[in-house]
Amino acid sequence: MKLKLQFNLILAIVSLNYRQAIAATDDDTAKEGRVRDEAQRAVSIATWLPPREVTKKYPYYLSGYDSDSRPIYIVEMGRWDVRSAVEKGGKDLENLSLHFQQLYYRIGQGGRFSASEEDFDAPNSVVIVDWGDYSLQQLASSRTVQALIQNMADFKTIEDSVSYGYFINVNDAAETLISFARPRMGKFMDRIETFGTRRNEWIPKLLEKIPRSQLPPWYGGNPDFRSVAIYG
Ligand SMILES: *[C@@H]1O[C@H](CO)[C@@H](O)[C@H](O)[C@H]1NC(C)=O
Repeated sequence: MKLKLQFNLILAIVSLNYRQAIAATDDDTAKEGRVRDEAQRAVSIATWLPPREVTKKYPYYLSGYDSDSRPIYIVEMGRWDVRSAVEKGGKDLENLSLHFQQLYYRIGQGGRFSASEEDFDAPNSVVIVDWGDYSLQQLASSRTVQALIQNMADFKTIEDSVSYGYFINVNDAAETLISFARPRMGKFMDRIETFGTRRNEWIPKLLEKIPRSQLPPWYGGNPDFRSVAIYG
């Protein structure tokens, strides 16, 4: 089992590297075309309405704001069943990618993207990724690992929009995945503090920067907490 798992991971990485090498040979015309496509995509990503299936299976939310008015995004990545989308392929997989892009778009907007009435102008955001429940079942499929790493790599596109953040509940499976994804996420990971599954270690860290009223109780926040907006 262990050997098979390692083989799967190596397969995933080799194939990712191969695709990147191919993409690097694109000429300038192709690049111009891509810039245009990307501008169009940005508009549709801002307004895209994910189907219920996606918001239910891949939850994240805007929990509140830190003391400098930065929006705090909490992503329950450990619960995201990426494997089922990969196995279905086609539109399901495309929609999952769009969901990732929309998350990055929102984080990238900082306080400019706000679902609340208040008008915050913080230029950047806070990100908490909860890896609780991330399982070997996800890690054991090389195509799933590839898809997740490819989508996570786009964290680097918003690295300057993230002021600070935390990876919490990082278990062994998640740690393995993150070690493969890390080199692809650019400076993003320099801004992230990583913690294991012991709440007593990370709760005080979160509360050093984030007011209790802005976090759910299971992250050390107030019992009467309500999130600003739920996207999943
Ligand atoms: C993908 O998302 C679009 C837009 O929300 C939706 O209409 C479509 O049914 C989704 N496809 C699948 C396979 O979930």
